[in-house]
Amino acid sequence: MTTADYTEKIPNNVDLHEDRRLQRALESWQPNFLNWWESMGPRLPTQEVYLRTAVNVGREGWAHFDHVAMRDYRWGIFLAERDRDRRIAFGQHKGEPVWQKVPGEYRADLQRLIVIQGDTEPASVEQQRNLGATAPSLYDLRNLFQVNVEEGRHLWAMVYLLHAYFGREGREEAEELLHRNSGSEDAPRILGAFNEETPDWLSFFMFTYFTDRDGKYQLGTLKESAFDPLSRTCEFMLKEESHHMFVGTTGIDRVVERTVQLMIEHDTDEVGPRGGIPLTVIQKYLNFHYSVSLDLFGSETSTNVANYFTSGLKGRWLEERRRDDHRLTGEAIMVDAVTDEGDIGQTEVAALVGLNTDLRREYIGDCQNGVNRWNKILDSAGLPQRLRLPHVAFNRKVGAFAGIEAAPDGTPISAEEWARRKSGWLPTDLDKTHVRSLMRPVHERGKIAAWIAPPRQGINGKPFDYDYVHLA
Ligand SMILES: [Fe+2]
Ligand SMILES: [Fe+2]
Repeated sequence: MTTADYTEKIPNNVDLHEDRRLQRALESWQPNFLNWWESMGPRLPTQEVYLRTAVNVGREGWAHFDHVAMRDYRWGIFLAERDRDRRIAFGQHKGEPVWQKVPGEYRADLQRLIVIQGDTEPASVEQQRNLGATAPSLYDLRNLFQVNVEEGRHLWAMVYLLHAYFGREGREEAEELLHRNSGSEDAPRILGAFNEETPDWLSFFMFTYFTDRDGKYQLGTLKESAFDPLSRTCEFMLKEESHHMFVGTTGIDRVVERTVQLMIEHDTDEVGPRGGIPLTVIQKYLNFHYSVSLDLFGSETSTNVANYFTSGLKGRWLEERRRDDHRLTGEAIMVDAVTDEGDIGQTEVAALVGLNTDLRREYIGDCQNGVNRWNKILDSAGLPQRLRLPHVAFNRKVGAFAGIEAAPDGTPISAEEWARRKSGWLPTDLDKTHVRSLMRPVHERGKIAAWIAPPRQGINGKPFDYDYVHLA
């Protein structure tokens, strides 16, 4: 079992000391990363945070918990164990041994895929940097910081690949990852959802539920890659990612739970004046975060993605569990489309060009699980209201539906009707102001804000009232 070497400046399980040039290059990137963390990372001053640090990539014991100063968090480079018999599972090279080096003809495409993934990791840290000041509890504050340090580590993961396999261009891209910033006018992050604000904790939970989950699906396709170092990197990142989605899922559970309590206690849907977040506002936030996250999957059809698949760069979600020939050359898939009559419908395309749709469908199915879970909370309380995922055509800026407007139920509507009704579907300034007004910090051990229920369990077997964060 490969245990990370923590005696090194950069903890790693890739024998970094054996490659002096690479080690020096990464060691010279490290202070730039730390400067970025200081200027763009969490703003709330803290002394120590109860954090999980990866010490081992094996099945057990890869996570070590301790109180650490965040700046001293050991960001490192961890790849999942190498499987020496691993073979390419799909595309034209199916059955051949996986690649340990980047084939020249795929270099530009692989670099692009890694840069796009890498760009999202620090972006979310930037988006979340002010949230500490309004954390509803120390438990939540700790979870926020855990997500932040791990997104920082995911940046390290991508930067390692760029430095180790893409030469001077890779090193330049690694610098750029620190120079672009979320929401910046001159140098924004590459993808739209990563330039949106995360101004309050309801947004944070929605982001970790819907947008981190997009990350899970993207990483899942890269984990299938024929480029083995990328595959192994993503496999390990996915383990950390699942905690981020846990934060989102249970965060929204707890908001819904509290809203339900207030609705029953005061026999009203208008829980705003009672210090809660109305279900209608939760639904609007859900509509927003879900629809911008769907945009991250790109267009319904894409020849680039078809080529990535055929050449082995990017597979499908759970590729090896698919029961087909894994080449898809003669197959077809139905994808969402606007028909010639302007209706919202579907059209048949070659399976290879429809792979974005295939991935998005997997994602949507997964998103629905959360909605079902939140609806169970409503159901058990005997309330008739339900939360819903809006239709894929709702509020889209990318793909087939970018040019039209649709209601959350998928009815096409005119631009005028959209303008008139959208305040009922997406958070308004008034909604956001109300949510923000609830965001008063609760930084006292064992206490929790009034708009959210406490968690059922603490972290790593610790109680809810544990001293998860030592504030400065
Ligand atoms: Fe990540
Ligand atoms: Fe994440």
